Amino acid sequence: MEAIPATRLSDLLRKEIQLTGTKVSCRIGRCGACAILIDGKLANACMTSGLLVSRRLRDISSQAIF
Ligand code: FES
Repeated sequence: MEAIPATRLSDLLRKEIQLTGTKVSCRIGRCGACAILIDGKLANACMTSGLLVSRRLRDISSQAIF
C-alpha cells in the first residue's frame, strides 16, 4: 500500500483500509479515541502521518495492520 504523506494515519486506517475500530473524535490529539500502537508504543493516529504504514501497527482491536 502506498501512503499519501499529508494523510492522517487515522484517516488512512478508517477510509482507505476500512479498519473502523480506531475512532476519531477531537482530531487534535487530546481525547485518545484514535489511540494505536506503533512499534509497541502508544500514539494518536490523528496526529500521525500516514507515512508510517511501513511500521508495525496495531489498532484498538489488537489487530496487526502492517
Ligand atoms: S481523535 Fe482525539 S486524540 Fe485523535
